[in-house]
Amino acid sequence: MGNMSFLKQYIFKPRTVGAVLPSSKYLAARMVNGINFAQVKCVVEYGGGTGVLTAEILRKRQPGTVVIVFEMNNTFYNVLNDKYGHEADVYIVNDSAMHIGQKLQEYGAQCADCVISGLPFASLPQEVSFNILTETKKHLKPGGAFITFQYTLLKKDLIGQFFEHIDIVREMRNVPPAYVLRCR
Ligand SMILES: C[S@@+](CC[C@H](N)C(=O)[O-])C[C@H]1O[C@@H](n2cnc3c(N)ncnc32)[C@H](O)[C@@H]1O
Repeated sequence: MGNMSFLKQYIFKPRTVGAVLPSSKYLAARMVNGINFAQVKCVVEYGGGTGVLTAEILRKRQPGTVVIVFEMNNTFYNVLNDKYGHEADVYIVNDSAMHIGQKLQEYGAQCADCVISGLPFASLPQEVSFNILTETKKHLKPGGAFITFQYTLLKKDLIGQFFEHIDIVREMRNVPPAYVLRCR
């Protein structure tokens, strides 16, 4: 899927898509850097979009690591499913990230070792963000990382209600430049 089609989804659904372009490969690499894939049995991704972060996760995961990708938008879901739906232990879910608990159970994982999020918390309704973060905390392994990118730090305090430590780095090689928040 090209950049114009991504933009079209933004025009139809600005609040949930929350970006005019897919993330850059630099941002994707930074999101996934620092995950010790040797110890990860299950990775969950929120808001897969056209799969930039998914590709990086799949490139780095060990054989047998379960990858569950939530994508609510039907067009993006179809793109992800066509690209990655056939890969072993990969589950593309056309539903809200809110249902992480149910899907972990369905795919035989007790918890997520880490959660990588592309969700636009800045533009999602506050209640939706709150519910997703509540469910994330509940189903993330104790000490596991929740990694999210954001274009501003406006929602840092909201995210901070759920996680004790947040490390922030900025990736300039993205349009627009983005902050990567690594939360524990
Ligand atoms: C900023 S885009 C990021 C796409 C991709 N991860 C990337 O980095 O290029 C946000 C994505 O989150 C999806 N999304 C928004 N709310 C969601 C929810 N509650 N559950 C799952 N996906 C959601 C949107 O449809 C969109 O694809």
